Amino acid sequence: MHPDLERVLIDTATLQNRIQALGTAIAQATVNAPELVLVGILKGSLIFMADLMRALDREVAYDCIAVSSYGASTESTGVVRLNKDLDLDIAGKHVIIVEDIIDSGLTLKYVHDMLLRRNPAALEICALLNKPERRNVDVQVDYCGFDIPNEFVVGYGLDYAERYRNLAYIGVLSPRVYTH
Ligand code: PRP
Ligand code: MN
Ligand code: MG
Repeated sequence: MHPDLERVLIDTATLQNRIQALGTAIAQATVNAPELVLVGILKGSLIFMADLMRALDREVAYDCIAVSSYGASTESTGVVRLNKDLDLDIAGKHVIIVEDIIDSGLTLKYVHDMLLRRNPAALEICALLNKPERRNVDVQVDYCGFDIPNEFVVGYGLDYAERYRNLAYIGVLSPRVYTH
């Protein structure tokens, strides 16, 4: 375990098993959708997205959108900024937004509302982690990996000030790392 962590919350094998199950569920639910597009929200969703799409036993395209609301802090600034838009046209396609974590819900609501205006045939949300206690704005999660408690987690794409994204598991960051 990384020395900055308090404990491992979700180990690698548990993550990978759950992602396989999500892939199976998504493939089954989209059998009648000719064009499936995964939209990853950079940067946090990168690792999850890469594993999820390889767990999908069907044809799929993917694209990425970049937004930011946290910066180098453990608290959301409350303002979502669009840093990079999609390259693909999603009109008429079955789109699934792929996110690493839903905290306040602000990031997903912003992206969901923006993509909805482009007339996809379907627009769903797949989030690896969900913190129900922290929800401020209402978002409907169609595929969820794990509900987790209100603790600051890192790893598997999730960062604190850009660190720990490359851990192959999800861990709880020791408060001493971010309290001064
Ligand atoms: C984090 C995380 C989600 C978002 C969740 O991203 O990856 O995208 O915050 O929080 P919310 O539900 O309160 O909006 P961050 O802004 O830190 O950018 P990053 O993905 O590049 O780390
Ligand atoms: Mn993010
Ligand atoms: Mg972040």
